[in-house]
Amino acid sequence: MSLIFSGIQPTGNLHLGNYLGAIRNWVRLQDDHDCLFCVVDMHAITLWQEPADLHRATREVTAALMAAGIDPEKHILFNQSQVPQHAELAWIFNCVARVGWLNRMTQFKEKAGKHKEKASVGLYVYPTLMAADILAYKATHVPVGEDQKQHLELAQQIAAKFNHDYDTDLFPELEPLIFGEGTRVMSLRDGSSKMSKSDTSDYSRINMTDDVDTITHKIRKARTDPHPLPDNPEVFDDRPEAGNLVAIYAALAERTRAEVLAEWGGANFADFKQALAELAAEVLGPINAEMNRLMADPAAIDAVLGRGARRARELAEPVVEEVYNTVGFVRPGAS
Ligand code: AMP
Ligand code: TRP
Repeated sequence: MSLIFSGIQPTGNLHLGNYLGAIRNWVRLQDDHDCLFCVVDMHAITLWQEPADLHRATREVTAALMAAGIDPEKHILFNQSQVPQHAELAWIFNCVARVGWLNRMTQFKEKAGKHKEKASVGLYVYPTLMAADILAYKATHVPVGEDQKQHLELAQQIAAKFNHDYDTDLFPELEPLIFGEGTRVMSLRDGSSKMSKSDTSDYSRINMTDDVDTITHKIRKARTDPHPLPDNPEVFDDRPEAGNLVAIYAALAERTRAEVLAEWGGANFADFKQALAELAAEVLGPINAEMNRLMADPAAIDAVLGRGARRARELAEPVVEEVYNTVGFVRPGAS
């Protein structure tokens, strides 16, 4: 039986990259898997968050997930800090993972920037908490965007070392699920950097909360090049901005880039951008409306998270107990 786990940080604006790279795939996987979806507030504070902003963003991300089609009745939707087993298992993993492994993490280097010495210790051990998120449930399949691949490889490495060191098969193997045309949506301003919540330019991304006019305006302003659309995707190596818009279109339309170019090859970007804006508005518009509706009742969102956390704790508790016994901690009632 495969169990799905994934997480998303309640920081800043959810954007089209989050939707196409992760959330939409989560919605699909719900049909034939058991899933846990976690709003990772403890990961969020590895960088400074104003408490009021974090509080609001946690509800907003929860509302966005529900609006996009995550079903909190059939599956488990919760915020990380309500389930203490994540932090407990993360400590064990801090003692399993090696400093050399963490030193290789490219996201730490990007996020810490030039002043590594000033980064929080939490930012450095971020991947061990992520491994704990997944393995506290012995989840096996993890749907994420391309940027999380390295973290998942580390989680696998931690699970394997734990199993080896303690001579057990407690943790299962993990399988990253990275699929669709939107696994790496790039900035609308710069085809060499990914669309991100933290980019200072709002023109770099389409937010899940943008209205139709804003979406249209941002896509019209998106960087391209003077050439028409090509008729096959291979030439995009030298045309990253053009390639990104076509990939976004393909992901939104649920077609391949080749199929999109079979239709649009030779067209000019002004027409293509118009069609892309309409498509983006068509997909995001209803989600946006539903999100606003849900946000009007914060108590209901908190109730969803509370219920999800209760169910998550029931699953995680025996796993962490098993880990503690394996490690040799004295526990009441255990032999
Ligand atoms: P984060 O915003 O870092 O919490 O990411 C939440 C999920 O969205 C993860 O699965 C990421 O891999 C995915 N994601 C974030 N940015 C992008 C992007 N630009 N393109 C595709 N997926 C993304
Ligand atoms: N680090 C992930 C991101 O920023 C979010 C995350 C936290 C996650 N824990 C996870 C994703 C566990 C998958 C599984 O995108």
